[in-house]
Amino acid sequence: FADDNVFKIGLILPMTGQQATTGRQIEAAAKLWMAQNGDTVAGKKVQLIVKDDTSLPDVTRRLAQELVVNEKVNVLAGMGITPSALAVAPIATQSKTPLVVMAAATSSITEASPFVVRSSFTLPQVSVALADWAPKNGIKTVVTLVSDYGPGIDAEKYFSERFLFNGGKVADKLRVPLRNPDFAPFLQKVRDLKPDAMFVFVPSGAGAAVMKQFAERGMDKAGIRLIGTGDVTDDDQLGDMGDVALGVVTSHHYSAAHPSPVNKKFVADFEKANKGLRPNFMAVGGYDGMRIIYDALKKTGGKGGGEALLGAMKGQIFESPRGPVFIDAQTRDIVQNVYLRKVEKKDGQLYNVEFDVIKDVKDPGKSRK
Ligand code: DHB
Repeated sequence: FADDNVFKIGLILPMTGQQATTGRQIEAAAKLWMAQNGDTVAGKKVQLIVKDDTSLPDVTRRLAQELVVNEKVNVLAGMGITPSALAVAPIATQSKTPLVVMAAATSSITEASPFVVRSSFTLPQVSVALADWAPKNGIKTVVTLVSDYGPGIDAEKYFSERFLFNGGKVADKLRVPLRNPDFAPFLQKVRDLKPDAMFVFVPSGAGAAVMKQFAERGMDKAGIRLIGTGDVTDDDQLGDMGDVALGVVTSHHYSAAHPSPVNKKFVADFEKANKGLRPNFMAVGGYDGMRIIYDALKKTGGKGGGEALLGAMKGQIFESPRGPVFIDAQTRDIVQNVYLRKVEKKDGQLYNVEFDVIKDVKDPGKSRK
């Protein structure tokens, strides 16, 4: 393959540091996609260049700059956390390079550049369904506990507003630092306030610590229920959370237990290729992000540069392991089902078992404007 017949994807992920599980999941999923679909598309050799940003946005920006200028990548992808995605958005705009956001989930990211396409989800999208479920299921008062940055603020706002609208009461709104969080003082505060439930958003990888300290403080025994977006019962960690997680209800767009043939095959193939590692929602964002890139390359034949590629990403419709999805051509955000799930034991292992679905949910963060 001559140089101009190579198609380069610059995949920037947190491979080390606090968000390393996100990087591990997405890299594995991208490699699985390529193993299943080959590395030649429309006569071009697809090359995946993986870079570790350690989830520090200054590093993400520098790596993106290098990938665009030196490597001349055709697509930027990855983005483990919101600050990384926001740091790279101006580079995508200036260089007209599509930026496929596979993890970061603050609503406003797609508005930071017209070159952003998102394959993950948004926190407003998954938070509202739980605020409809809770008051119908004995939860009248809630304390919210979120990571103090973009997605946490989105989750707090969209959950609280809808919960209030439905007649619920929010006794307090607590925000924990993203870096090296110490949950103990916040959990103590929740314990003292004795709400019916604590609503939690923490990023992927932090859920097990919350769950452990929730149990250590006997909060479940004190009658406080834990609910949240599915980030807290992340499939990457759920298997090791223990019985404290049993019965926890969350809303989210993906569960490894989603009972579709497409998902069963995805989970089996992923586990086989990764020593039994269970795929989580990050893996699905990575896998679907690769499909979006492949299909856009197929459609354009690689001609017309970044703008043509971006155009071919808009409006894509396909069946993901999570269920049916489409990329809204107006917002470039993903439209998808949101599921209510309860943690149950299946074949001796903990899973998020889906018990209700809200179909084709758009990001409510956009329809406000
Ligand atoms: C973000 C990161 C996560 O790990 C997650 O589960 C949700 C959102 C973010 O930074 O946008």
